[in-house]
Amino acid sequence: MMNKLKNIASKAAIKYIKNNNIIGIGSGTTISKFIEILYSENKNIKGVVSASKYSTKKLKKYNFNVYEINKINKIGIYFDSADEVNDKMQMIKGGGAALTNEKIISNYADIFICIIDQSKYVKNLGISHPVPIEIIPSAKTFITRKLSHIGAIAKLRKKTITEHGNLILDVYKLNLYNPIKTEKYINTIPGVVTVGLFAQRCADIVIIGKYNSTVSIINKKI
Ligand code: 5RP
Repeated sequence: MMNKLKNIASKAAIKYIKNNNIIGIGSGTTISKFIEILYSENKNIKGVVSASKYSTKKLKKYNFNVYEINKINKIGIYFDSADEVNDKMQMIKGGGAALTNEKIISNYADIFICIIDQSKYVKNLGISHPVPIEIIPSAKTFITRKLSHIGAIAKLRKKTITEHGNLILDVYKLNLYNPIKTEKYINTIPGVVTVGLFAQRCADIVIIGKYNSTVSIINKKI
């Protein structure tokens, strides 16, 4: 069921690719489907900047040109999914531990298109997912304590080392009433590399594959 919804949402997202430009691609099961559809629809794109080794491997398998982000100076559209999205198009991301590259590429891109199934569209962020934070390993105890002072509970994600050699803390019970404020606060803690709240740079367009097999599009720019 969820695969079908990822498919229909991905097909709708691909229609936004108009020119032979470089696009950004995130990471995860939704994006894995997106890559397959990008290939099968034979879209003419110059190349891709990828957020994870897994996505890069898959893109190369389908013969897409994968560019190193430091070598390019413009990304038109960034396509990615999320763990949760609210009606302001703010997101929790990082279920796949690729949040740092995802944040860099999404901030670099002109437009961020987020592709989700209906289960991920929530009234309030944090309902069913913790907020992942990528941290420098030596800061683990300090950050865990610091977060406990604001009532949050940080749990070390087991058997996970990020592509940057860091750890992931999954943070529960954070106050997400104002996601931008919380994102800014966590970014001030020494040792934090990236917080998986994408509220300052939220999505520009959210494409939702719905349970009734239709697609709903939120686009505040139009
Ligand atoms: C990876 C992410 C993913 O976009 C998020 O976890 C959703 O993944 P999936 O498409 O597998 O549900 O942020 O870091």
